[in-house]
Amino acid sequence: MRKNIIAGNWKMNKNLSEAKELIKGIKEGVLLEKINNTRIIVAPSFVNLLSVVKVTEESIIEVAAQNVHELNSGAFTGEVSANMLSGIGVKSVIVGHSERRSIYAESNELLAKKIDGALANKMEVIFCFGESLEDRTLGKQFQVIEEQLKSSLFHLPEEVFASIILAYEPVWAIGTGETATPEQAQEMHLYIRNLLKKNYNEKLSDNISILYGGSVKPSNAKEIFSKPDVDGGLIGGASLNSSDFLKIIESI
Ligand code: 13P
Repeated sequence: MRKNIIAGNWKMNKNLSEAKELIKGIKEGVLLEKINNTRIIVAPSFVNLLSVVKVTEESIIEVAAQNVHELNSGAFTGEVSANMLSGIGVKSVIVGHSERRSIYAESNELLAKKIDGALANKMEVIFCFGESLEDRTLGKQFQVIEEQLKSSLFHLPEEVFASIILAYEPVWAIGTGETATPEQAQEMHLYIRNLLKKNYNEKLSDNISILYGGSVKPSNAKEIFSKPDVDGGLIGGASLNSSDFLKIIESI
């Protein structure tokens, strides 16, 4: 049975002392009896990963990176490999965030290589994808999502999907305050699950967690998470404040 997951993507926020304060606030506030078998993941920036890993040792909070290079080593100034991340105890990595796709021109093909590299290092991948406002206005959202999944993910063998989490993040809802309605999220999540059923099988599509991301806040989280194919959220802005993040965790 698939798990519920709440993940916080801290993006390029928090220096070391702020990151420590945030993770301590989350750790102290997580009440096991209230989290309902939910995984909690936080994704700080590279420089703060090791400190956050140390604070979360022996807690249920897991730590993910926000990006990874596709290769294990080499002359790639400024890059970080999966081998380095797993070496400091980071078990998951976000791949394909729309900000990486649009600002750093990461293509579906490059993302496929990043996924392969992370999986080869036994890391779990939180794979993000989502349509732009223009795609949705033109009614192309399903076509765009299918293309993103096909070209980055569907080359993978069935057995590695136990290490994949999907995060549907419509670009028009990220950081804009505009959220997909719970019905729009459910419609897309069901479409994704059906795609997985068609390309793989029902068991795989039933077992994979599909998160929604885009302006999730304490005030709208419960309604979005109540939809049957929404298994949690990837939270940006509201994950930077422990009290908001804890409220979102409790609403699942
Ligand atoms: P916001 O929650 O700030 O809209 O960001 C969503 C996101 O991009 C998470 O990866």
